[in-house]
Amino acid sequence: MGILTDTYTLNTGATIPKIGFGTWQIPNGEEAYNATAFALQSGYRHIDTARVYGNEESVGKAIRDSGIARAEIFLTTKLPAEVKNYEEALEKFETSIKTLGVDYVDLYLIHAPWPWSDRGGDYTEGNIQAWKALEEIYKSGRAKAIGVSNFNSTQLQSILDNGTVVPAADQIRFFIGFTQDETTQFSQDQGILIEAYSPLATGRILNNPDVKKIADKYDKTVAQVSIRYTLQRGTVSLPKSTHEEYILQNADVDFEIDAEDMAFLDGLTDTEE
Ligand code: A2P
Repeated sequence: MGILTDTYTLNTGATIPKIGFGTWQIPNGEEAYNATAFALQSGYRHIDTARVYGNEESVGKAIRDSGIARAEIFLTTKLPAEVKNYEEALEKFETSIKTLGVDYVDLYLIHAPWPWSDRGGDYTEGNIQAWKALEEIYKSGRAKAIGVSNFNSTQLQSILDNGTVVPAADQIRFFIGFTQDETTQFSQDQGILIEAYSPLATGRILNNPDVKKIADKYDKTVAQVSIRYTLQRGTVSLPKSTHEEYILQNADVDFEIDAEDMAFLDGLTDTEE
């Protein structure tokens, strides 16, 4: 499964495996531990978690117990979305590192531009303050790269205008039919890597007949076509699963969707968004 060791290069110069194991909604304890351990055993070398997922403890333990050198694993966690000030951002990072039981993370992201309880609210100043903390952490070497999540182009521009470090990544919801083209284009133009979370639309895409048609043509599953699509769009793909069969299947995406089929998939729109 060569694809699991294929990488992009971040604007820091560090490499990042193109496929990461997403751990959103995997409960702390046995479930997160086993899923992460299995992903690592299966060759995944990129694990994506967040303080708010509540599973940093089990994810970190699975990484430490894996016997794989820390340097060979790319680990991301995220600053809770409601933290919009410098001091608390520094504190929350400490909590994450301690809970994960690691000396550093490879990528630390501001989880969202606004608290989840106030989606769409304007936290421009708070994001600038939080970003200052991330820059500090980056300069200390304890986050090898820093970035954001769920930011649109305006919110990214404000970080570019007010910060001294260009975000390395923007992790956004991205799947066939929902590709946030403006944000994606803006980021890619700025050398900010787009990371696709929910590449399967949290499972909803699995019943999409248009994608199924393409999957049948390539003798692949809808999940595999969906993940492959995100990779061919130049994004990191972060599929989440707790089933061993799926964890393996989602990494078996070493095939090529041709230009015509990519164009067809690009043209689909997700009616539920
Ligand atoms: P589960 O976690 O029960 O294994 P996304 O990555 O877009 O957030 O989607 C995750 C959802 O898709 C989860 O419900 C997950 O199920 C399911 N899933 C992940 N991989 C596959 C797959 N290869 N086939 C079918 N369902 C999958």
